[in-house]
Amino acid sequence: MPAEEILTATYQANRDEVNRVLLLYSGGLDTSVMLKWIQDEYGAEVVALTINLGQPGEDYEVVKGKAMQLGAVGAHVVDAREEFAREYITPAIKANATYGLGYPLFTALGRPLIAKLAVEYARQTGCDTIAHGCTGKGNDQVRIEATVATLAPELKVIAPVRGWQMGRDEEIAYARQNGIPVKSSASEGEAPYSIDDNLWGRSSEGRWIEDLATAPQDDVFDLVTRPEDAPDQPEVIELDFEAGVPVAVNGERLDLVSLLERVAEYGIRHGVGIVDHIEDRIVGLKVRDIYEVPAAAILLPAHAELEKLVGTIHQNQFKTQMDQKWGYLVYAGLWWEPLRADLDAYMDAANAQVSGRIGVKLYKGSARVVTRESPNAVYDPQLATFNSDGGGLFSQAASPGFIELWSLQSRLAWQVRNHTS
Ligand code: ARG
Repeated sequence: MPAEEILTATYQANRDEVNRVLLLYSGGLDTSVMLKWIQDEYGAEVVALTINLGQPGEDYEVVKGKAMQLGAVGAHVVDAREEFAREYITPAIKANATYGLGYPLFTALGRPLIAKLAVEYARQTGCDTIAHGCTGKGNDQVRIEATVATLAPELKVIAPVRGWQMGRDEEIAYARQNGIPVKSSASEGEAPYSIDDNLWGRSSEGRWIEDLATAPQDDVFDLVTRPEDAPDQPEVIELDFEAGVPVAVNGERLDLVSLLERVAEYGIRHGVGIVDHIEDRIVGLKVRDIYEVPAAAILLPAHAELEKLVGTIHQNQFKTQMDQKWGYLVYAGLWWEPLRADLDAYMDAANAQVSGRIGVKLYKGSARVVTRESPNAVYDPQLATFNSDGGGLFSQAASPGFIELWSLQSRLAWQVRNHTS
């Protein structure tokens, strides 16, 4: 039987401490094998918890039924889409959150919520231990375990996949022996992509993606239309924001979850939001991911554009640095770090003015801002125009004096270094 995980952290469970386990259950092969394996290995009871963060095409009744069939003493499904949108995606939009120039953090945002709910359900159902299906090579173990250790020091964690050293074939064999349903495609063909998805995006890892010299193969795209197959006619969508939060699409007010789904539909149709990304993981590895982020690829640039319009040069330059810090904390699994809450207070203040309407043109994979309107724009067409002497707050006669003083130090330094005087 597989080796036990070596205990290196205080929150890891000793074998004799594990009596009732809250398992974060997706219904896939790894967590289904875990459901059985935990009962066998630890003689423990298992309560399964499945979280709906808006993964498309999931049948949660089937997942729940499978958990009970595999011997769970309880199986819960929580629809957390609204909380995810309000408490996790909204602050991410306000912080223009991406990591590594293109990953909008959908998984990184989802994990702390999943782990927080695991803590709540573990307490409610009398579990002493939380189990998850993350491997030892990814960021998700960091996000989940950091959350549990922060919010619930009394709970322990086990991560069987990290310790059991079963390969895919052994897992399938174990599943067969233990009456765990395995899709026939799983045992025959190649290993599938490793997928994670929610309202804010979808990631694929593994297979050819690990070969950096291989260009994306079409079968990886499960969400977004290939840009070359997208409609020949471009389409403009108008997005309304209030205090940094998207509230309407083409003038129709929608609740946040519906709005994210609606915007995603536009992106999906027009091939928008494909990201081929090399990423520096927290655990040191560099890994390639293929992301499909149709909603984020439209909403983030629209928000950033509106923010730029209503902010001053000083606010705008400063905020990009705060945005980057926010994104990194979240990527790195430190959602509960107080600096993130401090930054959120700043993000809310900066976003108080971010109201207005942005038009985005979608066309064969691109999403380009084409129109901007805001009552708070720091923009005066009278001042900006080329066609008059301006007037009002802008005196062109003052410009040469400004240039003289603005360039003074640079001119002096140039002369000293080039001995021109
Ligand atoms: N690389 C991304 C991240 O670290 C996505 C991870 C996807 N997770 C997964 N279990 N497949 O956030």
